[in-house]
Amino acid sequence: MAGELSPIDKAKFVAAKRAAQFVEDGMRVGLGTGSTAAWLVRCLGEMVRDEGLRIKGVPTSTRTAQLAREVGIEVISLDEAKWLDLTIDGADEFDGELNLIKGGGGALLQEKIVATASDQMVVIADIGKEVETLGAFPLPIEVIPFGWQTTQALVEETLISMDVLGRTSTLRMNGEVPFITDEGNYIMDLHLNRIGNPRQLSLVINQMPGVVENGLFIDICDAVIIGFGDGRFEVRDINEGTVDRDRVDFVESDNVFSDLTD
Ligand code: A5P
Repeated sequence: MAGELSPIDKAKFVAAKRAAQFVEDGMRVGLGTGSTAAWLVRCLGEMVRDEGLRIKGVPTSTRTAQLAREVGIEVISLDEAKWLDLTIDGADEFDGELNLIKGGGGALLQEKIVATASDQMVVIADIGKEVETLGAFPLPIEVIPFGWQTTQALVEETLISMDVLGRTSTLRMNGEVPFITDEGNYIMDLHLNRIGNPRQLSLVINQMPGVVENGLFIDICDAVIIGFGDGRFEVRDINEGTVDRDRVDFVESDNVFSDLTD
């Protein structure tokens, strides 16, 4: 089954498979959103089914909640969990300090709340997500629909004094209508090309009244697991300063491919 997947999907699966080994019996686990996180949810579902793993999952989107329930993971709300042992999620970009851009899937608000309420956040990604400097991927910000054009103008004006290369923004669309987040807000994508000072930018953007949250994750991620299409993976732990390399055996993992829908 794994042979039918593209190299990039194999890489995502490999990262997810390794990350699933971080999950221990009894843990409360934040479940990320996106195609890489979907692999993780499937791997955990397999462990629940076949190994009797007992976990409580806190999803970061309605999509992830639905998938988690489908694969047999017990789903609870963040308020029920109160605090999480671990969150595992994908990312759109990560740099050498494990600062992230997230929100390509539009779930950045719940993702940031959940990751921040966790003892540990682990990002799973293919090598294409690694960058020297954040910003080639458009930075998503979640904005209140009321007065969004005024907010957009304010954001663009503020970007003039920021250390970025581009200053345009676009409202994310879902066909002919604006994309609506799980919280009923809009997403604005900032085309910055290069973010010289992500920490400062994050603080400044979040000060604007119409902005709910931005997709920069600064000092939140503890480790990244990079998967490769040939089964290799690399675990970089920013706190320990360690890098571990090994590989995943695809043959053991055939079950998780058989009911793939994401
Ligand atoms: C969802 O809002 C995002 O933050 C995703 O985690 C991110 O876009 C990565 O998605 P993929 O794993 O699909 O690339």
